[in-house]
Amino acid sequence: MLTSGASAGLHYLLSSLVDHDGFVFIDELAFMLTFGILKQFTGMQVIPVKMNDDGVDLADLEQKIQRANYLPKTQASSSGDVCKGVINIARKYDLGVICDDVYNLLHYGDEIPKRLYAYDSMEDSDYKGNVISNASLSKPISPGMRIGWYEVPPRVKSVLSSKGMLVSSGGFCNFTMSVLASMFEMGIAQSHIKLVRETLAERMRVTVKIL
Ligand SMILES: Cc1ncc(COP(=O)(O)O)c(C=O)c1O
Repeated sequence: MLTSGASAGLHYLLSSLVDHDGFVFIDELAFMLTFGILKQFTGMQVIPVKMNDDGVDLADLEQKIQRANYLPKTQASSSGDVCKGVINIARKYDLGVICDDVYNLLHYGDEIPKRLYAYDSMEDSDYKGNVISNASLSKPISPGMRIGWYEVPPRVKSVLSSKGMLVSSGGFCNFTMSVLASMFEMGIAQSHIKLVRETLAERMRVTVKIL
């Protein structure tokens, strides 16, 4: 499902899936504007969860959970063990986990970092579908395009697509989505993403060298 970027995507998820007097647990180190979006939902209680070097502190997360939705900063930086731990907790309490997956396409090595979404495998006997990937093309294409996308479990897809806003409009930004589809068909988007990855990798190497 396409969105008009991760910020609008998050707002729509919060307004569609979370009780307006509910709880949101969030990595204590998160994208600053996420807090601005959360602030608009004045009834929700936002509870920060401690972070360790390898991701969220699972013990702290579990301790703080009563009725919650959990917003990880980005799973690109979390270890496999932490990701598995988050999935176990999400399944145990049947929580929604919204991932701010904005940087995944900008990995610099050959191996693509596994997102938390991939750990919530449908093959598992206890699969329910707890993880939502809220991704964006703002970094690899352009923030001005205002295009992002969700990858969601089936039970979430039916809820999101049944809300009045989407039923009425048929999409978040239909014209821009068609422009982007043409860019992919013509190969322009792919070559741009390649250029952005190479440029940012070079900048990263220079920055690391200076530091
Ligand atoms: C970590 C992170 N999350 C979310 C966003 C928002 O992305 P979008 O431009 O798709 O709304 C940004 C944009 O800078 C970001 O850096």
